[in-house]
Amino acid sequence: MKSASLKSWQGTTAVIGVDWGDSGKGRLIDDLATRADTVARYSGGSNTGHTIENDLGSFKFHIIPSGILNSKAKCLIGRNVAVNLQSLTLEMADLDKKGISYENLIIDENASLTMPWHMLRDGLSESMRREKIGTTKNGVGPTYADRTERVGLLVKDLISEDFKQKLDREIEIQNKFFNLKLNAAVILKTYQKHTEKIKPYIGRTIPYLKNSIKRGKNVLFEGAQGWLLDIDAGTYPFVTSSNPGIVGIARSFDLHPSAINNVIGITKAYTTRVGAGPMPTKISGEIASVIVTKGAEIGTTTGRVRDPGWLDLVLIREAIDANGINAMAVTKLDVLTGFKTIKVAIRYKNKKSGKLVDFVSLDSESIKNYQPVYKEFPGWKEDIRSIRNFQSLPKNAKTYIKTIENELKVPVKFISVGPKRGEVIYV
Ligand code: GDP
Ligand code: IMO
Ligand code: MG
Repeated sequence: MKSASLKSWQGTTAVIGVDWGDSGKGRLIDDLATRADTVARYSGGSNTGHTIENDLGSFKFHIIPSGILNSKAKCLIGRNVAVNLQSLTLEMADLDKKGISYENLIIDENASLTMPWHMLRDGLSESMRREKIGTTKNGVGPTYADRTERVGLLVKDLISEDFKQKLDREIEIQNKFFNLKLNAAVILKTYQKHTEKIKPYIGRTIPYLKNSIKRGKNVLFEGAQGWLLDIDAGTYPFVTSSNPGIVGIARSFDLHPSAINNVIGITKAYTTRVGAGPMPTKISGEIASVIVTKGAEIGTTTGRVRDPGWLDLVLIREAIDANGINAMAVTKLDVLTGFKTIKVAIRYKNKKSGKLVDFVSLDSESIKNYQPVYKEFPGWKEDIRSIRNFQSLPKNAKTYIKTIENELKVPVKFISVGPKRGEVIYV
């Protein structure tokens, strides 16, 4: 890491989930953004739900970068983000209501738009799947599919002279191929209204970002989702349609991974998953309901209850290896207070041969051949929410964090003990 403590981070820093999402990326970005000149969101779409609580209020962002609450930081929505204007304009309206400016926003003109038909298609494909993925139905998969197919609308099309023709043509294709009954006039009217709202913020993010880095500014990259949901590396097909890892930054900003100084992997002190797909360390019963209640494990975007599980260091090691992670952030340590025993998976065992392994292929079929091998820890009872330095944590909480560090061979630099800005231990 370029700086000893994240409290004084500088240079280029990326925040990457090492799990199935909802690790607290929004709150980490909000905590770190006080030092940022630029905050750049690089992947996903309105499937994302980033929660922030600070003195300005409580916020849920889907498209707007979580750095927007730092009035000095330029906030970029990158080229590989699926831009859903329904969501974006609602988020803007919420900020308007709260009197918070978003004049520092730049939405990349070449990003793809998530349109109403993408959401319809997302719902339709889910309903036709034998094995459901449990998507957020935000149309993110179909948006990326269209981008790869080289159809679909881009942000810059909204302000082109022939927007109406482009829209009509798209709607014709959608109605024909997907048997939809889209009303072109209604959609045009809605999108003209959206365009009025977002027009001042459409621009080119890549030259801005490159120039920022050249001038030695502090740049923070905001990940969405998590590595285990990566379209290629995750538990396919139970994944999202983009690259939540370091590759996603290159796809949005043409930036080589070696240009990023601090790569922070973020996880909760336990793990959760929402939607379908394998989760080897999943917990059920009493412990699961306590985690869901204490951790308020309800999805930010869909309101679904998240499945809880113990921390899985085997899968996190893979995320570290693939993304060059050099610091870890562990959130929600306070939620584990009061448990008699806490478990963490440190190896996997092959169910047939009994062989212990450090690495598994993540695809949803082969992962079924393994079961986690746990290390158990005694818990702690003390309320830790007001603790701000590592030494003051209960002994067993310190042992838990130190074991994570030793197993992962990466320092834990950020431990959060409450949802609000500043409820953090910088190590
Ligand atoms: P993201 O998608 O990674 O930004 O995470 P979400 O916002 O979807 O979910 C994280 C949830 O945990 C939010 O409700 C946060 O307010 C909450 N949270 C974050 N950090 C902490 C923490 O240290 N303690 C507690 N109790 N809640 C936290
Ligand atoms: P943040 O950024 C948690 C999950 C969905 C589903 C799968 C595919 O808040 O961490 P999609 O709508 O992307 O096609 O759904 O991915 N998923 C998330 N789970 N947090 C997210 O984002 C997620 N974004 C997508 O639940 O299992
Ligand atoms: Mg979330």
